[in-house]
Parts: sequence; C-alpha cells; structure tokens
Amino acid sequence: MENLSPKPGDLEAIEMASRDEISALQLQRMKWSLSHAYENSAFYRRRFDEAGVHPSDLKTLADLAKFPFTTKKDLRDTYPFGMFAVPREQLVRVHASSGTTGKPTVVGYTKNDIETWATVVARSIRASGGRAGDIVHVAYGYGLFTGGLGAHYGAEKLGCTVVPISGGMTERQVTLMQDFKPRIIMVTPSYMLSILDEYRRQGVDPRESSLAVGIFGAEPWTNAMREEIEQAFDMHAVDIYGLSEVMGPGVANECVETKDGLHIWEDHFYPEIIDPDTGEVLPDGEMGELVFTTLTKEGLPIIRYRTRDLTRLLPGTARSMRRIEKITGRSDDMIILRGVNVFPTQIEEQLLKCSGLAPHFQIELTRTGRMDNMTIHVECTPDASAEAARAHSAKELAHHIKSVVGVSTRIQVADPGGVLRSEGKAKRVIDNRPKG
Ligand code: DLL
Repeated sequence: MENLSPKPGDLEAIEMASRDEISALQLQRMKWSLSHAYENSAFYRRRFDEAGVHPSDLKTLADLAKFPFTTKKDLRDTYPFGMFAVPREQLVRVHASSGTTGKPTVVGYTKNDIETWATVVARSIRASGGRAGDIVHVAYGYGLFTGGLGAHYGAEKLGCTVVPISGGMTERQVTLMQDFKPRIIMVTPSYMLSILDEYRRQGVDPRESSLAVGIFGAEPWTNAMREEIEQAFDMHAVDIYGLSEVMGPGVANECVETKDGLHIWEDHFYPEIIDPDTGEVLPDGEMGELVFTTLTKEGLPIIRYRTRDLTRLLPGTARSMRRIEKITGRSDDMIILRGVNVFPTQIEEQLLKCSGLAPHFQIELTRTGRMDNMTIHVECTPDASAEAARAHSAKELAHHIKSVVGVSTRIQVADPGGVLRSEGKAKRVIDNRPKG
C-alpha cells in the first residue's frame, strides 16, 4: 500500500497548533456558543434558566460541566424547528434522521455552517490520504441522511472530482469504478463488503482496482474488519465519525499514517466523556459516553449533546488534537444476554477469525420461557460450503464467542449470499423477543 503521510504545507495551521493554542481558541469559542444558544434559542434559554446557569458562568473549559445536557429527546420534543438559534429563513439546508423509532430529529445549517462542515470533511479526507485532484466515489446515501451530501461538499472543497453515486445499485457501483478509476471511496464498511461481493461476482480482482483509500463510517466496525477490507482491496481503510445532531460526517477522523483512533476536530467540536449513569465528567483515558458541544455552529448550536456512543479520549498523535478510540458501540446497541453485555462489534471480531465464514452477519434475539437466546446468522464462503465444513465453522465461531465474549450462542450457517446485504448502515440486531 502507498505511503500517504502528509507533506509539510499540506495541513491547516490549527492541525499542528499547541495544546495551549487549541484550549485558548476553544474557550473563546465556547463562550460565544453558549451565549449564542442562550440569546437566540428559547429552548436553551429555558434549559439554562431552569438549571440556574448563565453563559457568563463559564470561566474555564471545565466550567462546561455546570451546564445541562441535551439529548435526542429534546430534538424530538421540539420537532421540527424548535431548537434553532437563527430565523428559519437563514437556514440553507435541513437534514433529518430516518425516524424509525418515534419522530425524526431535524437539524439545520446556515450558509456558514455548511462552509464549516465542508472544511472539516475536507480535512478528514486529507487526513485519510486524499488530495486535490483525486476522484472520490461517494456511496453514502444522499438525501436527508448527512452521509452523502456531507462527504460531497467536503470532497469538492478539497478540490476533488466527486462521483455522487449514493447507495444502492451495486452492480453499477462496480462498473463505474472500473470506468472512472476513483482513488477514494466513501461508504459504510458494511456496504463496502457488498461491493466486494459484486467485484467477485463480476470476476474483477478487487486488488487490481484503482482504489487507494476507503473512508468508512456511520456505523461501528472493528480493526478485524479493517484488516479484511485492506487485504481484499489492497487499500487503506480509514475511520470517519460524526452524527447529524453535531454536524454530520467529519466530526472526527483517523489519520492514514497512524490509524490509531480518530482525531476530533476540536476547533469546532468540544468533547467530554461522562459516566452514562451519573453524568459525571470522567478524566481522559476512561471509558464512558461521548458528549459534544459545538463551538462554531450557528443554526443549531448543540450544548453537551449525549451521543450514547461509548469510547474514551486519548492524547493526540499524528495531530495535536485529541483522539477517540475506535467506537465499540452505542449504549442503545448493547445486548444484555443472561447478564452479560454484548456488542455486535464483539461478534464481528470473532466471526472474522473463522476462515470458512464470510464477514456478513445478523444477530437474532428470541425468548423461550424466561430464557433469552442469541442466534448468529452467518454464511459460509463458497469453498467451505460442504456439510462438514459448515458444521466445523459453526462450532469454531460458537467456541470463539463463548471463550472471548462469554455467552453461548446458536450459529446458523446459510449458503453464500444467504445473509441480508447492507446498502447503508447495517442492521445488526433483530429482536424477536416478546415486547414488554
Ligand atoms: O452516521 C454521520 C456519518 C455519515 C458519519 C457518514 C460517518 C460517515 P447519524 O445518522 O446521525 O450520522 O448517526 C450517527 O452513527 O452516533 C454513531 O453511533 C454512529 N457512527 C457514525 N460514525 C461512526 C463510526 C452519521 N465511525 C451515529 N464508528 C453515531 C462507529 C459511528 N459508529
């Protein structure tokens, strides 16, 4: 694989600033953001007043802990436009979550917000090894989801040629990549695996593709999956993180030269890690729930937003800005099976150790009597599809899960292609337990 370390002059000055410079900028911007929220959003004014705090109470960055949290419920309760801090006419764009559970959450951007977003995504693509002049194949979904348009504006800002293909029509994805020869692909890791299948179906060697870098995010994925994709395509696989409430993709990104967690673009997004039960701020290095405060956002300033994503803060390496460790999962995705906490990423990690199984999976939860059961739906690789090979793979996976994760599972090995493919965010868990 190519060495893609940045050259002097490639980076923005702030990416190499000292910690003191970063903190000073954060404090100045945080004061602005709190005042902007308080002065211009009835929601935040009420919240701060109820909590007995005022923006002038913030003297240091640590004082942020005095301010109340914001949650997804707050966005739902103020649906659609109740949290904005500018008149609706000043928003040039809205995005929204799919709203599969309850009302969707709506977010809005001013012209400056779109510019900031493009800047952090351009920075993310550069950190991943992308450069002006590259062809970027954007297979994140376009539409109300932030993935497609977020990636698009960032790639344009960096000076790339964007192919806005969006998700789906996998056959055409491969054809266009063969014809246009992109250097970069931006897509969910689970959809990248569907694209990999399609390369093989068409008899095209993925290692011969023009791709040098994949920028993967929008869902949890493991280092084992990174290895799998890097080997299959002979390309770098880099992690991008973000969420619509805070901005969209590009809140944090790995650097291709280190691949050791994601640098948070701290000049725009201030991170905290809290104990999810008590809300107490935890020191850097400790695992907990990630919380973000936006420092420059105009349309929808977000103060102490509880992401539900579990990770920890680490010092900077390739850049001076702090990193988050690769995200293990969301507290919402955590399965408690007979008292043991299980994340889908733990299953993914064990699955990728089994050579007779393809990397696609879904977890099904059922209940017999008072007992919860977990069935893992996987599929065999074409060269391990004989009865005996399947039985061996099932036993091997069950053993790995039992010894590393600590739970007993049933393994269902389907034919190649038998597990539902993702075209965006993968749905890993199907809960068929009786409700209530
Ligand atoms: O998924 C934004 C995005 C688009 C990020 C494209 C990266 C690439 P939402 O739909 O609001 O926004 O979902 C946000 O997805 O809170 C995490 O739980 C999860 N997530 C996003 N990126 C990662 C990642 C977009 N790299 C939610 N690793 C977040 C793990 C991720 N989880």
